[in-house]
Amino acid sequence: MHWETFESPDALSERAASLLLGAIRENPRVVLGLPTGRTPIGMYDRVVRECSREYHCFRDVTTFNLDEYVGVPPSHPGSYFTYMKQHLFDHVDLDLTHAHLPRGMAKELDAECARYEGEIRDAGGLDLTFLGLGRNGHIGFNEPGTPFDARTRVVALTDSTRQANADCFHDGNVPTHAITMGIGTILESRRIVLLVAGAGKEGAVERLRSGEVTMEFPASALWKHHDVTVLSSAATGS
Ligand code: GLP
Repeated sequence: MHWETFESPDALSERAASLLLGAIRENPRVVLGLPTGRTPIGMYDRVVRECSREYHCFRDVTTFNLDEYVGVPPSHPGSYFTYMKQHLFDHVDLDLTHAHLPRGMAKELDAECARYEGEIRDAGGLDLTFLGLGRNGHIGFNEPGTPFDARTRVVALTDSTRQANADCFHDGNVPTHAITMGIGTILESRRIVLLVAGAGKEGAVERLRSGEVTMEFPASALWKHHDVTVLSSAATGS
């Protein structure tokens, strides 16, 4: 695991954006795994800014989001599809048919999870996946107790995760379930970059750094991968 620590969330975002754009320059047909949450917003802002100067930046790129809420239509302001449109999709020349998120409105959720895994496989697998880190160590929506070989599936969200994500659901109807890529799916990505910034993540960083590998702390599965970069910001953001 390669660690890089930054003075500020801005510096972290700068570095994350340069890793993402570098991967596209190296392989314009790169397959990216992408996160949501507050942490990656600065990365997406910079990517969008940079791409406005580069014609055809995302033209041949394929993306797979880590997760999506169950029962939340894509058009809902709290959906991860809306998030991705706001922060990335609407501002770059990514072909939306190459932008994948699990379909949380699917009637047959288990079939949808299998279909999503199939789409990742058909795209040749994930080349580079960016992850955020939940305060309890979750990656995607893989909460503590998730086996490291778990595949894309429906999960129940913990109360703390629902509280952390409640601001996007002003009507008070915070979703109870989501579809998430599994830890096994994530670990098959050729390269992984974990972004950690924001208040209250110090304990999680400490725990990851300790090197203890346990199902109770999902991000510790990353120690089993050969190419993980952790970008963490010492300063806490908002
Ligand atoms: C959500 C997402 C995760 C994300 C986490 C941390 O639960 N499903 O993928 O990493 O939040 O979010 P934040 O960056 O807002 O702290």
